[in-house]
Amino acid sequence: MKIVFVCLGNICRSPMAEAVFRQWLEAAQLTGVTVDSAGTGNWHEGSEPHEGTLHLLEQEGIDASGMEARILSQKDFQSDYLIAMDAETAGTLHSLKGSGTGGAAVFRLLDFADSEEEDVPDPYFTGDFEETYKLILQGCSGLFHELFPDASERV
Ligand code: 4NP
Repeated sequence: MKIVFVCLGNICRSPMAEAVFRQWLEAAQLTGVTVDSAGTGNWHEGSEPHEGTLHLLEQEGIDASGMEARILSQKDFQSDYLIAMDAETAGTLHSLKGSGTGGAAVFRLLDFADSEEEDVPDPYFTGDFEETYKLILQGCSGLFHELFPDASERV
């Protein structure tokens, strides 16, 4: 199974979700699941995550190594799940999916959260990485339980 988290720049939100989800997969010793992230824009290609994301992940004891921003490609549509951080990104994914061949299921991360919010706020503009992290935790937790109900007790 392959899951790709997607935002605009691939430096703030989607790498945060990727790192959180990977840590839980490792904690539950789930093998055969690949997690990655990408951006719909190419402004930051090749960059490491934003210092706000790196700082927050470090504070939470979550490994943030080895992540480099990249732009979404047609190949990503061959993954199983494309998880968008907001409506704008989900819209881009739906329209690109329409023109391509891959069968990835497209969702918004907060579709899986028990939250009033529908979009993960973009800390690149809000500056509030904590708020973003809290919502990412809720969404990732819901997604994890949905995909791996048997493993959920182990994280
Ligand atoms: P992200 O945040 O989509 O959460 O990575 C952004 C980062 C950079 C830009 C926009 C959003 N930008 O316009 O450069």
